[in-house]
Order: sequence, then C-alpha cells, then structure tokens
Amino acid sequence: MCRIAPGILPANRGEKFQIMETYFAFQWHITDNCDQRCKHCYIFSGDSTIPITEMSWSDMQKTLDNCVEMCGALGRIPYFYITGGDPILHNDFWRLLELLKSKDIAFSIMGNPFHLSNDVCQRLQFYGCERYQLSLDGLKTTHDRIRKSGSFDTTLEKIPCIHNAGIRSVIMTTVSGTNNAEIPELIDVVVEHGVDVFAFASYCPTNFDKGAHIEPEQYKQFLDVCWNKFEQHKDSGTIFNLKDHLWTLYLHEKGLFTIPENLDDDVIYDGCNCGISHLTILPNGNIYACRRMDSVIGNVFTDRLSDVFFNEKMDKCRNFNAFEKCSKCELMRFCRGCPAVAYGYTHNAYSADPQCWKKVR
Ligand SMILES: C[S@@+](CC[C@H](N)C(=O)[O-])C[C@H]1O[C@@H](n2cnc3c(N)ncnc32)[C@H](O)[C@@H]1O
Ligand code: SF4
Ligand code: SF4
Repeated sequence: MCRIAPGILPANRGEKFQIMETYFAFQWHITDNCDQRCKHCYIFSGDSTIPITEMSWSDMQKTLDNCVEMCGALGRIPYFYITGGDPILHNDFWRLLELLKSKDIAFSIMGNPFHLSNDVCQRLQFYGCERYQLSLDGLKTTHDRIRKSGSFDTTLEKIPCIHNAGIRSVIMTTVSGTNNAEIPELIDVVVEHGVDVFAFASYCPTNFDKGAHIEPEQYKQFLDVCWNKFEQHKDSGTIFNLKDHLWTLYLHEKGLFTIPENLDDDVIYDGCNCGISHLTILPNGNIYACRRMDSVIGNVFTDRLSDVFFNEKMDKCRNFNAFEKCSKCELMRFCRGCPAVAYGYTHNAYSADPQCWKKVR
C-alpha cells in the first residue's frame, strides 16, 4: 500500500500521521443560484431548469464547525474556496464572510462577475477575501456561446474592481476540444488585463459526453504552445499556475522536472489532491471527494467530516495501486493525471487519463 508524502495523510489509517502539509482546502458550494447556465457546467448541463438548492444559515454554521473540527483533528489549517453558482447571490453570503473573519479563517471566492463593483470588492477585502476567481472559457464569441452574451466583456471589466480593492484576481479556463485553439490568444488577453493568476483545467464530460475530447498527442502540443506563451510572458507579473497534473509529464519530458533522488518508492509526493488535502461540500450537504466526478462520500449535516475523511469510499481515492496506467508509471507519485476526467469518459476513476500521452508498459 502506498503512503502519502510527509505531511499528507497516510493511505493506511492505522499509521501515525506525519503532518507537514499545512492547509486543507474546502470547496464549499453554498448555493446553486447563478446568472448563467453554462453548457459545460456540472450543475446545470444535465438539466438547466433543476431546482436551486441553497444551504440554510444554521446549516452553514454547523458546516463550518464541522470543517474546523476536522482540521483540528488532522492538525491542518482550513482554507475555504467559497463558491456556487455565484455565492454572492446567497442571502447569507455576507453573514458567512463575517463569521469567517471572526474566526480568522482564510478564504477565496470562486464566483461570477455580474454583481461585483468597487464597493462590493472593498467589502470582500474587508472580510479577508484573498483571491477572487472568475472564468474565461475562450475568446469573446466562444466564451459567450458557452456562458452567456456579454459575459466575456463583463468579466474583463470587473478585474480592475478586484485589483482596486487589493484582492488578487484569478482567471480559470475549462479547456476542451471546443476552445483549446483559442487559449494561447486568451493568455495574451489575460496578461494585458494584469490578471494575477491564470490556470486551466480540463473539461470533465458530464453525461459521459466524449464529443469535446482532445487526443493525447494533440493535448501535448496544446501544452507546448501554452508553455511557450508562459515563457513569452514570464516577466509580465501574471503567475501561470500549472494546475493540470499532466504538466508534470510535460516538464519531465522537457527535462525541467526530474524525479528527486533518495525518495521512498511507496510515498505519494504530488499530483491530484483528492483524498489528500481537498473536499467539496454542496448546498444540500453532500460531501464529494471531487466535485467534478460522481464521488459522494457522506453528508456534512449528518456525518462528522473527521470520520468521513477516513471512510471506505474516501480510502478508494487513496488506493493508488489501483490506478490502471499510473500505477505502472514512474511519475505515479507526482502526477496521476486527472481521475475526474478519466471518470467522465469511462465511469472509472482508476482508468487512464484520456489525455495522457505517455507510453507505459
Ligand atoms: C462551478 S463554477 C463556480 C464558480 C463560477 N460560477 C464560475 O463559473 O467560475 C467553478 C468552476 O467549475 C468549472 N466547471 C463547471 N463544470 C465543469 C466540468 N464539467 N468540467 C470541468 N470544470 C467545470 C467552471 O468552468 C468553473 O471554472
Ligand atoms: S457560472 Fe459557474 S456555476 Fe454558473 S452555470 Fe456557469 S460554471 Fe456553472
Ligand atoms: S500514466 Fe499517469 S502518472 Fe504517468 S504520466 Fe500519465 S497520468 Fe501521469
């Protein structure tokens, strides 16, 4: 059985924890309410008319206590990504931020641009918001087709409000075969607007839709073009977050990542955080190992998170030897691709990341 790097939790719950990893990240969807109905969205792509679920104020208070209790037990510091939908549309959004501030808990927001203004951003900053993440899913025409008309321009217009308030801006792109050709030019746009952090992640097919797939070799070329753009803009002030784990493979092949010597063979050092330092909570209380795949492991209203994090369902995410291709790969302890993308294509999170181009025997 594999262990997890010092500081990260050991897969074998009988082992003593070695805790070096400081933070534990909660992606907390407080509401499904949203001004958009994006075509790719894991909330709405199945049915854009689904009833909107919102977490009640009393459940939010209990949820926060549950998260804090779990972090206390694990010796981690909680970090929250407050999201939705658009979390600002929740009636108790500001009350929640006030509660986080009163407990001195760090957080960022993943939301929409439509309700941001200078005043709103100042208020976010007052309560301690460190980063505000917005999405851009292509250049104007593509982005607006996926999201809604006017969304692209509004997103760019609101970046100065975020900066003026002293909050760091993050742009996230969900990449698929429908928009990958536009990403290099989008990187230029993001840099021109002085965005602090840019990252992209692969689209996880909902309803097992394989239509937007990027073939592995094509994905490698896509990463190469993006890498050259990152190099071109390396002094721009924008940080390029290599969120996609296949960057590890790319950098390894380029000689920019070498496997450090004298590491333990059975220890997980990097790659997907699922089962290690991340959980997602939905407005109905469901706890997901990862929101981008069908991975409910409990409910935060009825279960103690400290128990859920060690339950059998969660253990399956830490069963690294079960990864069909990665377990045979020299990069397994550092990469593992994206199990949620694999799940989207095959309904099996242990199957190979369909965009991984490495030949493994
Ligand atoms: C659910 S949204 C919430 C925040 C905000 N409404 C937004 O769209 O940025 C968070 C992120 O999940 C991404 N996302 C939604 N559905 C996805 C899917 N099927 N695969 C990958 N990412 C997805 C969105 O594009 C966005 O970057
Ligand atoms: S804005 Fe975000 S939450 Fe709303 S539909 Fe689009 S991806 Fe989903
Ligand atoms: S086989 Fe798995 S660990 Fe190896 S490069 Fe591909 S995704 Fe990464």
